[in-house]
Amino acid sequence: MTTTTRTAAFNDDKRRVLEATDIVRLIGEQLALRAKGRELVGLCPFHNDHKPSMCVVPHKQIYHCFSCGAGGDALRFVMDYHKMSFREALQHLADRAGIKLTPWRPSHAAQDGGGDEEQTPRSAMLGANQTACDFFRAILKHEEHGRAAREIIEKRGIAPEMVEAFALGASPDKWDGLLLTAQKKGLDLASFRAAGLFKARDGGGVYDAFRHRLMFPIHDQIGRVVGFGGRKIREEDDPKYLNSAESAVFDKGTTLYALHQAAQAIRTSRRAVVVEGYMDAIACHQAGVKNAVATLGTALTIGNARVLRRLCDTVVLLFDGDEAGMKAAERAVEVFFAEPIDVRIATLAPHTDAKDPDDLLKRDGGREVLERVFAAAADPLDLLFARVRSATQGQGLAARSRTIDEFTTRLVSLGLSTVEPVRYQLIVRRIAEVAGVDWQTIAQSLSQKLARHRVRPVAEGDAAAATGQVRLDAQAHLLACLMCDPDLWNRLKDEEWELLSPDAMAEGPVREVARAMADIRLHEEPTTLGAVLAALDDAEAQRMATRIATTVDHLTAGDPARLVAHFVERLREAMLQRTLRRPAPAVPADTGGESWMQAVLRQRELRAAVGHDPTRLPRPGG
Ligand code: UTP
Ligand code: MN
Repeated sequence: MTTTTRTAAFNDDKRRVLEATDIVRLIGEQLALRAKGRELVGLCPFHNDHKPSMCVVPHKQIYHCFSCGAGGDALRFVMDYHKMSFREALQHLADRAGIKLTPWRPSHAAQDGGGDEEQTPRSAMLGANQTACDFFRAILKHEEHGRAAREIIEKRGIAPEMVEAFALGASPDKWDGLLLTAQKKGLDLASFRAAGLFKARDGGGVYDAFRHRLMFPIHDQIGRVVGFGGRKIREEDDPKYLNSAESAVFDKGTTLYALHQAAQAIRTSRRAVVVEGYMDAIACHQAGVKNAVATLGTALTIGNARVLRRLCDTVVLLFDGDEAGMKAAERAVEVFFAEPIDVRIATLAPHTDAKDPDDLLKRDGGREVLERVFAAAADPLDLLFARVRSATQGQGLAARSRTIDEFTTRLVSLGLSTVEPVRYQLIVRRIAEVAGVDWQTIAQSLSQKLARHRVRPVAEGDAAAATGQVRLDAQAHLLACLMCDPDLWNRLKDEEWELLSPDAMAEGPVREVARAMADIRLHEEPTTLGAVLAALDDAEAQRMATRIATTVDHLTAGDPARLVAHFVERLREAMLQRTLRRPAPAVPADTGGESWMQAVLRQRELRAAVGHDPTRLPRPGG
């Protein structure tokens, strides 16, 4: 980026928006955060985090993950978490803060990150979905075209508040309802197609994908419409529910219906309830179970579970009472047994003959029955063992040992090798108990099975944590100190300035940070971390700035005196490194290079320059 555009960046919207945003609130809306000293910690959403390694630093207005290295300011978080372009993220934060942005100059289009000309940008697809959502809502209110859908809503007892909260709508019984609207508005039809709202006609042209259906918009966590579920209105239509195809904005594996409406209740109750249908989720909300979400007609995935786990401690899976519900519950038991997520499986079956939560909650006393269902929710492991126990009941010794053997083989293939040690111990003891043998025997047989089973590769973030962070050099520490306290620039002596010039750094993100700082100083602004992040565009450089500033902040515990001491110490180290790197003074060729005496004199000079610290000097002769 050129200096001129960066200059603009200092006075512009970016700064106003960042100043008006509280990063703790912003991130706290997406993740459960716990206070820890001067900071807040939570599970990092950018890698598969097992213990809270993401920290949010209120006094710096930044976040940083110690495990995967993700980090930056509020804008960076919004860009990465919600997969928004810079411009979209800026607009999003401006909207939150009620700030009006200066009109966007199209010459900056390249910055918008839409990038690829071939593909419809995500923003256009989201725009198409929003247009469709507004259109379907208007149709629902339409005297004639919305009548059939309104009748269903009434018959199903969906309250008007729910129709509003879930933005329910109706698609008209026509092939071109939405199409005509899009054309009248002069919108780009390609984005509607990319979002799955139109389908291609054989002879060319497009038609509405959703016709004569009760429309359930599917929102992401911040309320953008990413897709739709459409329920048939006519009995004879097929399928019962038509859903948007997966697209760049709609990933069924990580999207949950009603998460936008439920997120706050999930955070405060520290629990999420997952039901099977759109109607069930709405019925739960209507009955006051506000932490309910629904899967999108597929079994809950690990991806779904991880999204929820960032918001709460316990995920209760509530399955329908029918055959399919029981089957799904059994599968869930297997999927989640090895995951470090506190999952509870709840089934309607023994408590009521209602086929699903919607059916139950429409009955008198349904809410109380649902509470009993929740209270009886079980750990997947308990359910697994209940199954083996009943399988081995009355079996002879040989048959029982075969059952147990099959069972343990199954556990191994379900990911037993990744189970945490404490839970693993528990599993071993419980198998031993069911098998009626001592746990050492089981442990031995399990470890043989595990050895034969290929171990899953460690997730990327975990690998970074295991190998430890790359050591930062002295210059990086100095830059970090200057971000923690920009007044430290005044302590630099003339010959030390050069150490921190971008040209003195190795190519890479640290150099970018140094360059941004030099730029900020040129504008006579303080080189705070916030200013540096605002001046950087490159995500990697932003991560680096955040990482080094957080590291130094931790090392010095936010204490100004310790910061100064750290600064002085690193300055000395950097000076020393530079002197050692500098080639020896030229000597006449015939003397055969630097003499021993000259080397001693040079080292003596060096000590005089940087202060005496023998441990940091090479040994004589070395
Ligand atoms: P259900 O058949 O249980 O529907 O499917 P429901 O939600 O209870 O709806 P009502 O009460 O009969 O009106 C549960 C979920 O499975 C997905 C939808 O997400 C639905 O909410 N589904 C079902 C589909 O995606 N396609 C279908 O054809 C049927
Ligand atoms: Mn139903």
